[in-house]
Amino acid sequence: MVPTRLIAAAAFVAAAFVVPVSSAYAEADAESLINALNSVFGKHEGVRAAHTNGICVKGSFTPTPEAASLSKAPHFSRPGPFPVIGRFSMGGGDPAAPNTQKDNVRGLALHFNFDKDNTTDLVMISAPIFVAKDPDQFLALLTAVATKDKDKIGAFFKANPESTGQANFLNARPVPASYTSVNYWGVHAFTFTNAKGEKHVVKYKALPVGGETGLSDDEAKAKAPDFYSPELKDRLAKGPAEFTLTAILGEPGDPTDNPTTLWPEDQRKSVKLGTISISALEDNATCDAGVFDPTNVVDGIEGPENDKIFPMRSQAYAVSFSRRAK
Ligand code: HEM
Repeated sequence: MVPTRLIAAAAFVAAAFVVPVSSAYAEADAESLINALNSVFGKHEGVRAAHTNGICVKGSFTPTPEAASLSKAPHFSRPGPFPVIGRFSMGGGDPAAPNTQKDNVRGLALHFNFDKDNTTDLVMISAPIFVAKDPDQFLALLTAVATKDKDKIGAFFKANPESTGQANFLNARPVPASYTSVNYWGVHAFTFTNAKGEKHVVKYKALPVGGETGLSDDEAKAKAPDFYSPELKDRLAKGPAEFTLTAILGEPGDPTDNPTTLWPEDQRKSVKLGTISISALEDNATCDAGVFDPTNVVDGIEGPENDKIFPMRSQAYAVSFSRRAK
């Protein structure tokens, strides 16, 4: 999470930042994206404009010895464990987004605090791709959905087939039985640099140590819409929930500028970076005191240069924070 003083600076940068026109759609900025999210999901006081329904947790991250071969970042190159604050969430801006919904992503956000001036965040969803290739396309998608007009929504998806990929991915899989029993991806391509200066382009993937567990459609129907929270409490009472964090290694030609495009994961090497261990619930106020910002990286990790969604996230999260923190 990024502390509030940095948020104020980020909001200032966001206001001064001019985004070039990149598509046939209206030009998106952080404010218009948050307003569009509010138009789709309603404006709810004091909460996130997206991933509104969530739960704060804490735990640790322990790196593998191989992690240092890829990145000199503290949590990959020094012995752990490193304490983490985390947040599981449902995608979208509905504070009561049902946990039984299949075509909605689950989120897992992590915050590492090495010392007060050295922190990093890792923000993942339960799909390898996002719904838009750039902010203008995301704004157009939200604007179409906000009309609730089937023809307009259908016309958007016909003209923007890449925006259907995430829902197709989710609909082909069961409803996750728990926040802790589904794979999560970092979606964007990051460049890792190790102590020798060697670089690798990677994508994050976190896999539950016990494997994925899903519910049949009938099982999902029988669950309460908010079953994840009590399930998580029961699960953590028995011991930590663990994920293996891996880096999928990109190969020349793998796209790094478009978060709707998949890398052929099964044809790519991957390196185990370490174990995320979620041990207990944490007061939600801890997670709400800042933002989990994927652009908050440390030496040894760089974000993608030409992916327009990536920097826009930081700006949009700052606007969402400034409105919810009022
Ligand atoms: C321009 C594109 C995007 C916009 C406008 C957007 C918007 C938002 C907003 C407003 C929040 C709440 C921020 C806060 O108040 O703290 C949020 C949270 C989140 N977003 Fe995005 N998002 C975008 C792209 C993505 C992508 C590509 C991912 C994939 C990893 C993602 C994953 C998440 C997750 C997991 C959270 C929850 C973080 C938490 O628990 O606090 N978002 N998003």
